[in-house]
Amino acid sequence: MNTKCSCCSSIEKSTENDLTSYWNKTYNREIQKLGWYEENPEISLKLIEKCKLNKDVSILNVGAGASTLIDELVQLDYKNIIANDLSTNALDKLKERLGKESSKVKWIVDDLTKPTELNHVGKIDLWHDRAVLHFFNEPEEQNHYFELVKKLVKKTGYVIIAAFNLNGAEKCSGLYVFRYNKEMIQKRLGSDFELIEAFDHTYTMPSGDTREYIYTLFQRKS
Ligand SMILES: C[S@@+](CC[C@H](N)C(=O)[O-])C[C@H]1O[C@@H](n2cnc3c(N)ncnc32)[C@H](O)[C@@H]1O
Repeated sequence: MNTKCSCCSSIEKSTENDLTSYWNKTYNREIQKLGWYEENPEISLKLIEKCKLNKDVSILNVGAGASTLIDELVQLDYKNIIANDLSTNALDKLKERLGKESSKVKWIVDDLTKPTELNHVGKIDLWHDRAVLHFFNEPEEQNHYFELVKKLVKKTGYVIIAAFNLNGAEKCSGLYVFRYNKEMIQKRLGSDFELIEAFDHTYTMPSGDTREYIYTLFQRKS
């Protein structure tokens, strides 16, 4: 079934089962017009600052898309940045924007719900996800996502997850979403992860429309 997208009006979903081609197609559009585009990823940056990480730590931005967060992390001189997405097209746009600086980032095209290469990135100090987890509606997809978080994030490492909150829209980019509050994310991460901070945030889309998010920062204690 094709679905008109509420946040990027003319994008249509190709087929229900072909998510990779759907996301690749999505990124054929002008990045600045995508419903989740952030000129300045200031909330993520503030949360990352709070973690007081050294510049040589390993930071994995999952479902990075063409996010400006990667540009900012490069500018801040973080040495081990990993950008993941299901969409090659998204990461290519990001690489193109970064130009020569793109060699400072490790690029991994992989599916968070059926990870292959991501299983081998080694331990990481920070997992960052903005607007990705909520696309996983099936329990199995969610299980694989959280298994990967637990596998990769080292003890004392951090997890930032920003997803649509319980008051949020039912769809993002034309796809149904699974919405969260902080307790739900805590439950999925388990007691090894301690909540450091959580807050709701109303994001204003390039169209002027708004979307309700929950931002969470956890630290792994054991
Ligand atoms: C709403 S966008 C958010 C992009 C970026 N995090 C940001 O804040 O700008 C969702 C991103 O998740 C990616 N994505 C969707 N399903 C995925 C999966 N199973 N594995 C990895 N990435 C996925 C999409 O390609 C897209 O780039």
